[in-house]
Amino acid sequence: MPVTLLPTLDPVPEGALVLMIGPPASGKTTLLREVPAHEVVSLDRLRAAVSRPGDQTATADALLLQQQILTMRLRRGETTYVDNCSLTPSHREQLTWLARQFARPTVAVLVDAPFDQLVLRNYARPDHARVPEDFLRAAHRLGRDARQQLADEGFGEIRHHRTGN
Ligand SMILES: Nc1ncnc2c1ncn2[C@@H]1O[C@H](COP(=O)(O)OP(=O)(O)OP(=O)(O)O)[C@@H](O)[C@H]1O
Ligand SMILES: [Mg+2]
Repeated sequence: MPVTLLPTLDPVPEGALVLMIGPPASGKTTLLREVPAHEVVSLDRLRAAVSRPGDQTATADALLLQQQILTMRLRRGETTYVDNCSLTPSHREQLTWLARQFARPTVAVLVDAPFDQLVLRNYARPDHARVPEDFLRAAHRLGRDARQQLADEGFGEIRHHRTGN
């Protein structure tokens, strides 16, 4: 499957499940600015919905809610963008499995940026959105690993966006 490098998010197939994949501050949410808000399912927003912004203890509840929302949207054939980090094959598999149940197309959007850019952007964020630097480094590595892994994960299409220089 060829990997494309694109500056903006091009249209996706009708009814697709689109996974945004990348470390914190790589630019996933920014790339989704032009997408209708109702098509975006964001773990951050669901954490905030069950608790408050940035509350990591709400992750399990938010994931449960996300799985239910995705099941309903994919069953209905609604195009859906998942704005999680989705940095490991198992996290991605839990999502693509659902798309397969309803025979929906899948698109992987890998978003990366140089590590020093991630660090700068992370420091510029409000407290609740900032992550420890070790965590950011590990996430950056997982993003690099994903470049190779995605080819074997059965996505219909793989796109690769680089943000910053
Ligand atoms: N193409 C870009 N060039 C420069 N800066 C960018 C670019 N895209 C995003 N940024 C900046 O990077 C920061 C993080 O972007 P964004 O919130 O989209 O990241 P994210 O991947 O959604 O992070 P998280 O996983 O924490 O939600 C923001 O300050 C944003 O303005
Ligand atoms: Mg985001």
